[in-house]
Order: sequence, then structure tokens, then C-alpha cells
Amino acid sequence: MESLETQRLILRSFRAEDGDDLHAYLSQEEVVRFEPYGVYDQAASKAEAERRATDHAFWAVCLKDSGRLIGNLYFQQQNPPQFQTWELGYVFNSNYQGKGYAAEACRELLAYGFGTLGIRRVTAHCDPDNHPSWRLLERLKLRREGHLLQTGYFKHDEQGNPGWHDTYAYGVLGSEWMSMNTRDDVNSRSL
Ligand SMILES: CC(C)(COP(=O)(O)OP(=O)(O)OC[C@H]1O[C@@H](n2cnc3c(N)ncnc32)[C@H](O)[C@@H]1OP(=O)(O)O)[C@@H](O)C(=O)NCCC(=O)NCCS
Repeated sequence: MESLETQRLILRSFRAEDGDDLHAYLSQEEVVRFEPYGVYDQAASKAEAERRATDHAFWAVCLKDSGRLIGNLYFQQQNPPQFQTWELGYVFNSNYQGKGYAAEACRELLAYGFGTLGIRRVTAHCDPDNHPSWRLLERLKLRREGHLLQTGYFKHDEQGNPGWHDTYAYGVLGSEWMSMNTRDDVNSRSL
């Protein structure tokens, strides 16, 4: 897996020693609220960093100036492979949200996917209640293609009932995205 670079960030593979920075955000309740898992403790974060070091779907997003890991992207080819469709996901430390880092990192990864890998379509899914997530997707110029009702649940409510959630399905074709974003757009804008 190669590294990618933006104005402020390095995108690289995970390393076994990323456990502490990973723990810093996987231990934040507000960060895992819409994820299929709960908060991670120190030991689980260490194990997860070691696991991700061999899982190329996860990209570590680090500040260029300090090297600090501030979040991750998920970019995974879907089956069947000949459909050339990839799923995008993202999780950032709450101390580093609201600064345009997630958009900057995703934009670079999309440019890499569509431009260098030549992939055909990217999809992303989120809970309609997760406003920062779908606002990010719209900033990235993905299109909302569906509002799916009660698609599943990750957690139970206080009475022990499944907390059913809806899903917004987003997508964009490489041909569309490339015509909307020049290389200069990706390089020069953080929004
Ligand atoms: C989803 C998530 C990655 C979005 O992160 P984000 O920081 O809001 O997204 P962006 O990188 O696009 O940042 C945009 C914000 O940064 C602000 N900003 C500040 N400085 C900026 C700069 N230099 N350049 C660009 N934007 C900047 C923008 O104004 C915008 O603020 P606003 O949300 O108040 O309008 C983040 O909320 C997250 O990690 N959530 C927890 C995990 C999660 O739910 N993941 C998704 C599951 S589906």
C-alpha cells in the first residue's frame, strides 16, 4: 500500500505502534455513536492497530507536521470484484473534526481510486441522524441515491429493544467525479 499526501496530511497504512493514537479516538463515545461497535479500551485498540497493519482497507490519516494519527479512512472493494465498486468510510478523533481534515483525506483517496486505480463506482452509507457524515459525503460530491428504511441495528435502547436505523445510500461514478474534480481542485482546496 502506498502513502498519499495532501497539503496537511499523510495517508498511510496502519502500524502496530498506532495503538495509543487509535485508542485516543476509539475510546470517544461521540466518535463510535454510529459505528457497529462500542468504545475500545487500551488493549483492544492495541490489538486493532496490529490487525489493521495487515488490513489494506484501512488508511491511517496523520498530520503532516507532527505525524499524529488523527483518524482513519476505510476503502474496500466490494464483491463481485468485476463490478469495480468500492465502499468509503471514515472515523476521526473528535478533537480533529470541524477542521476539514476528513474532506481533505477523502478527496485525496477518491482521486487516487478514480485516477490511479481506475475504479468505476464508489458507495457510502450512513445513518440519516449522522449529519456530519452525510454533509461530508455531499461536500465530496457523492449523490444521495436512496433512503432505506430500518435497514438494521447496531445497538439496543435502554429497554433492550433493537435501535433500528435508516440508511442513506450515497454513490458516484468515476466518470462523474473526474469531470467534477480536476487534479488542481484536489490539490488546492481543503473544502
Ligand atoms: C463524519 C466525520 C468524519 C466528519 O468530519 P468533519 O470534520 O465534520 O468533516 P470535514 O473534514 O468535511 O470538516 C468540515 C468542517 O470543518 C470546517 N473547517 C474548518 N477549517 C477548515 C479548513 N481549513 N478546510 C475545510 N474545512 C474546514 C468546515 O467549516 C466544516 O465545519 P461545519 O461542519 O461546522 O460546517 C466526523 O464527524 C466523524 O469522524 N464522526 C464519527 C465517526 C462517524 O460517525 N463516521 C461515519 C460513520 S457513517
